[in-house]
Amino acid sequence: MADVAIPAPAREVTGPALGLVHLLRLRREPVAHSTWLRENYGDVYRMHVFGTEMYVVSGPDAFEQVFVNRDKVFASGPAWSHFIGPFFPRGLMLLDFEEHLHHRRIMQQAFGADALRRYHAIERPHIARRLAGWGNVSQPRLQRMLKDLTLDLALEVFVGVDLTDAERARINKAFIAAVRAGTSIVRRPLPGGIGPWSQGLAARRTLEEFFFAALPDKRRHGGDDLFAQLCHARDDEGNEFTDADVVNHMIFLLMAAHDTTTTTMTSMAYQLARSQEWQQRCREECLALPDPSYDDALGLTALDLVMKESLRLCAPVPSIPRMATRETTIDGYRIPAGAIVTNSPYQNHYLAEVWRDPTRFDPERFAPDRAEDKVHRTAFVPFGAGVHKCIGMYFAGVQVRAVFHELLTHYRWSVPDGYEMPIDLVALPVARDGLPVRLERLDA
Ligand code: HEM
Repeated sequence: MADVAIPAPAREVTGPALGLVHLLRLRREPVAHSTWLRENYGDVYRMHVFGTEMYVVSGPDAFEQVFVNRDKVFASGPAWSHFIGPFFPRGLMLLDFEEHLHHRRIMQQAFGADALRRYHAIERPHIARRLAGWGNVSQPRLQRMLKDLTLDLALEVFVGVDLTDAERARINKAFIAAVRAGTSIVRRPLPGGIGPWSQGLAARRTLEEFFFAALPDKRRHGGDDLFAQLCHARDDEGNEFTDADVVNHMIFLLMAAHDTTTTTMTSMAYQLARSQEWQQRCREECLALPDPSYDDALGLTALDLVMKESLRLCAPVPSIPRMATRETTIDGYRIPAGAIVTNSPYQNHYLAEVWRDPTRFDPERFAPDRAEDKVHRTAFVPFGAGVHKCIGMYFAGVQVRAVFHELLTHYRWSVPDGYEMPIDLVALPVARDGLPVRLERLDA
């Protein structure tokens, strides 16, 4: 009788006992500590944090299995809902399978090249006006300035509604509270409406009221902003969003776009402050293209290399979760049904077997002759992979190019020798000190 290969039984996943201790260390030292965890517990380990068992997987193969998800084992909605569900219900990332595809097809209309050209046209003059005032800021902290700028741009480009200063402040405040609530340690409302959770729920109501009130006018009059585009988006079969869909997607999009773009620009500003050589190279490229159109800006190749390298070194979404819809295995390890599985780009982006000298800022590694990111299709994953891959990836690129073109052609900035930006991963990576810089106007 021929030998029949009996598959080896799946291995049980192990991990450190005190998950919270490791989570806190990961917040402070994401790269060093995830490397330590991987070395000590292997490519798949588990951590128990806030009553939830999380299975952490490393490396491009595991990333591809979970996020490209060809067997449709892993769901995004229930995993993300666990963290942000009450504040961002029915956002695109919280939908799955057929329903997700249906919504994504409609939303895609608001992210095509023509729509991106229009967003670019809206934001250019606004960026120029805002940055003109940066020369007068005493003790500039670039992260804070970039965060204010992206929040302001969101109201112009996303919402496109004329607001009084008081309304602006109210919407901004609600939006910040909704985002903060998603990472609250106490994950339920406290009596008296105190605490981030209750404030997040109140903020959600404020945002819903605001968007529902503004919606009829947007439906009637249209416009070039993202809100108007969503009101009028239709897929090839003519399907469109209901009013509730538009409101849910708008609130989610504001969240998905804002901190991620701020983190990207902060990381780029930090790297360029430390590498005056790259700063000058990007400046010369920008000076050679004064007043670039959307299409011209795509030719800023040095800036593009810097953006990629900054996203590699400091991925704005530090951990991406999924839920196993049935029992499965990853790399021979048993993953039970209902388990939350996460992967951190911080692990993939620092693997010595993929990246040469991984901790070094070296934008040329993305140039066509080296193309280290092409070693594996999920080696470089700041925007995720598979059907949920970031729909705003090109939108973010447009905004980053527009801001840095303005910044590089009007300012030079630097940090003292030896300065290292202290990162905290409370939710998305933030510089604990706001990135203080010396900022000089070039034409002063
Ligand atoms: C550099 C900035 C950005 C980064 C690094 C980033 C990162 C990501 C990542 C990692 C995902 C995948 C999450 C998952 O698989 O669970 C994602 C999804 C998403 N992002 Fe972004 N994002 C950025 C900017 C934006 C912008 C500007 C927008 C909107 C204008 C946006 C809208 C979305 C949406 C709607 C999804 C969900 C897509 C889906 O589920 O089909 N993002 N983003």
